[in-house]
Amino acid sequence: MPTGKLQAKEIRLVSRPQGEPTPENFSLATVELPELQPGEVLVRNTFFSIDPYMRGRMNEGKSYILPFAVGKALDGAAVGQVVQSRDPAFRASTWVLSFCGWRDYYVAMGQQLRVIDTTQAPASAYLGVLGATGLTAWVGLNDVAGIKENETIFISAAAGAVGSVACQLAKLRGCRVIASAGSPAKVAFLKNQLKVDYAFDYRESDPLRQLEIAAPDGLHVYFDNTAGPQLEAALESMRHHGRIVMCGAISGYNKPAPGPRNLHLIIVRRLRVEGLMVADHLHRMPAFLAEMIPAVRAGKVLHQETVLHGIEKAPDAFISLLRSGDAHIGKLVIRV
Ligand SMILES: NC(=O)c1ccc[n+]([C@@H]2O[C@H](COP(=O)([O-])OP(=O)(O)OC[C@H]3O[C@@H](n4cnc5c(N)ncnc54)[C@H](OP(=O)(O)O)[C@@H]3O)[C@@H](O)[C@H]2O)c1
Repeated sequence: MPTGKLQAKEIRLVSRPQGEPTPENFSLATVELPELQPGEVLVRNTFFSIDPYMRGRMNEGKSYILPFAVGKALDGAAVGQVVQSRDPAFRASTWVLSFCGWRDYYVAMGQQLRVIDTTQAPASAYLGVLGATGLTAWVGLNDVAGIKENETIFISAAAGAVGSVACQLAKLRGCRVIASAGSPAKVAFLKNQLKVDYAFDYRESDPLRQLEIAAPDGLHVYFDNTAGPQLEAALESMRHHGRIVMCGAISGYNKPAPGPRNLHLIIVRRLRVEGLMVADHLHRMPAFLAEMIPAVRAGKVLHQETVLHGIEKAPDAFISLLRSGDAHIGKLVIRV
């Protein structure tokens, strides 16, 4: 296929959101792809990932990753198949993982792509349970928290992408898992599918009261995906020398909120509180996949995802990801 004639669709950021993003912050554009140069590969995306951290990249200013540029396409993790290649390492039909999401076709240098093995698991799993999402949960529990059998762990945003993997891994390690989520359907999923020991809807009940009931002897570990009121409740419930993995702070991504009022408990209870950035742990990917691929294949870890069809669905999907409720369970991906 001559790439000079191929038109590609991409989602662009047209303005920086103020507070909650709106559909007007995004646009769908068509671009003509260039002819392939030596070393380049043309890929058709099949799935791309929608992630909460992208909200931070929509703001101006320095962070741990460059902000998205206004008027330019968004990006992020994606899986797709090679259509045409001028890099001898890639043949047509090969499945690849890239950072070229939010578009249907793209041209990239071969070294920007990683081949994935879709005989082991469905392609979309490499964005979720076998991708950076799963690695975040695995590293957070193993390397940051160092969880041990019989410990009691609380996980927030537990029915989401990272949270659902963290719940399952903590159960496999023999922990007692307390999980929270923002709807009755998600709480049912946590209890019935993920088999956590206790699950509650943090919007319908007081998180501190729930933790008092579920963990009268206190928490060894809190895996924090939300910050905000649930972090405050967890701090109140920690045992001495407990560990808190600071993975995400989604309650404040659209509108930063004042912090917990009880940070002094970190001192009183001698807590260890550690921030986790999955990008620092990519060297752990081989060990992670060596454990996770067999676990997923054996059905010991459920590959739960919500798939929305059509690139044009991506802005609304992203907006809903930053809200509580039933819009998605597990990993949210767009099928192009
Ligand atoms: N540190 C890292 O390297 C790293 C890597 C990946 C992800 N993360 C973080 O991990 C967290 C989960 O990410 P994910 O990809 O797995 O997303 P996700 O959990 O699949 O989706 C986000 C969920 O957050 C919950 N939420 C939204 N607004 C909230 C609020 N105001 N208060 C409490 N919960 C709220 C919603 O679930 P409910 O309906 O249950 O409220 C929503 O479904 C995010 O904070 C993300 O930034 C960190």
